[in-house]
Amino acid sequence: EIQLLFPAEQTLAFIKPDAMQEHRGKILEEIQRSGFNVVQAKEMVLSASMAGLLYRGLEEQPFFNMLVKFMCSGPSMVLVLSRYNAVEEWRVMMGPTNPSQAMDTAPGSLRARFSKDILQNAVHGSSNAQRAAEEIRALFRKDLWPLCSTGRGSEQE
Ligand code: TYD
Repeated sequence: EIQLLFPAEQTLAFIKPDAMQEHRGKILEEIQRSGFNVVQAKEMVLSASMAGLLYRGLEEQPFFNMLVKFMCSGPSMVLVLSRYNAVEEWRVMMGPTNPSQAMDTAPGSLRARFSKDILQNAVHGSSNAQRAAEEIRALFRKDLWPLCSTGRGSEQE
């Protein structure tokens, strides 16, 4: 029996609408240089229900409505990334949610360099492996789309 010492894990990553025009190429290049394999990728405009699913648990937060509106405001790049410890490694690469904290504690991180503010913070990453599996399933399995419509752009893959 073969035992894998470094099993590959998957996470879901987004390049959010604010970063698509100026920073997408750079972010994709850094993802690949950092040892992630991009196993699925597509550009899409999120529907409100898909954004709600992505950020479920935050419904009561004062910023929730703005967050959903922002996430649906233009195309995002949705990526499934694979490597050892992918969830954690991608969160490290993103840096803290708040860009001023990111600039203080992780100046090389994507959010420190590419965020506009705490809402328009360039990238998303699943918070744990369980959420990653759910988010990947929701975004990439066509047969589930009627339950959580992905809206405009979801037809092209
Ligand atoms: P959260 O899940 O706390 O952070 P992360 O994206 O690092 O997992 O929040 C989800 C998103 O909500 C975050 O990326 C940007 C937005 N947000 C705000 O607009 N204001 C806030 O005060 C916080 C905490 C988050």
